[in-house]
Amino acid sequence: MSDAIRNHYTRGDLLQRLQAALAEDGADPLQPTAEALAPYDQFHGRGLEATEDLAALVQPRPGDHLLDVGSGIGGPARYLAQRFGCRVTGIDLTPEFCEVATQLTRQQGLQAQVDFHVGDATSMPFGDAAFDGAYSMNVSMNIADKAGLYRELWRVLKPGGWLALSEIARGSGPEIDYPTPWAATAASSFLSTPAQTRQGLIEAGFEVLRLDDTLDKARDYGARSRAIVAQGGKPMHRAVMLIHGGVAVQAMANSSRATAEGRVVPIEVLARKPA
Ligand SMILES: C[S@@+](CC[C@H](N)C(=O)[O-])C[C@H]1O[C@@H](n2cnc3c(N)ncnc32)[C@H](O)[C@@H]1O
Repeated sequence: MSDAIRNHYTRGDLLQRLQAALAEDGADPLQPTAEALAPYDQFHGRGLEATEDLAALVQPRPGDHLLDVGSGIGGPARYLAQRFGCRVTGIDLTPEFCEVATQLTRQQGLQAQVDFHVGDATSMPFGDAAFDGAYSMNVSMNIADKAGLYRELWRVLKPGGWLALSEIARGSGPEIDYPTPWAATAASSFLSTPAQTRQGLIEAGFEVLRLDDTLDKARDYGARSRAIVAQGGKPMHRAVMLIHGGVAVQAMANSSRATAEGRVVPIEVLARKPA
């Protein structure tokens, strides 16, 4: 299973594709600013806006050591390190993502604050109670063993540590169509309902402080991006196209339709390991 997921995300030439996209945008491909990277390195629904919302939810403190589970090419980790002065450790199953994440982090001069490890979120190479907070953005859809994921998150958090999740949850109605941005076929897609997510976190020992659906925000973001495209501009979020190339059009169309029909629902969760 891990191989299918790694293959889904691996391009082999991701850094070169990113540099070409940046050059086409008129940005410096070798020393891009965080703003120039944002359409590409925030690989989740609503891009940087969702990361800003997650930060507002958890309010990280300078010096906190945070864990980013399924850290992709590192946009959320670099944003939290730069904006709040946190230290952030990322873990991701896809080696190419960790390599590109490390390279971009060096370019941004954040290597003393942000590091990345190749690994599986259900069996993490970190000690007990190592982190002040943990977050994961659009990752658990690829993880069948949710109990294993939540058990590991609980283990590596300090007592009183927070957990923030930005997820795509199963809604109602027929099975969704594939490919989607997170899975080529149903075989590597493991969506939980919001109720199952809440229950799984509680069973792992977390207190669930909030679980909100962010559908209205997703619709608003989509409408703004479409308006920009209608005026001849580029979509606000370009990570799926960068990573998946030609198949991205179908993947994004399937996921937009599933969202519009309520077959999937974006959610944001805040939980806490009791002190
Ligand atoms: C849609 S991307 C999101 C990346 C990043 N969170 C972001 O928002 O920019 C999903 C990521 O989850 C990672 N992933 C999937 N299953 C994983 C697992 N079991 N352990 C660690 N990472 C995993 C993938 O390699 C991919 O980088």
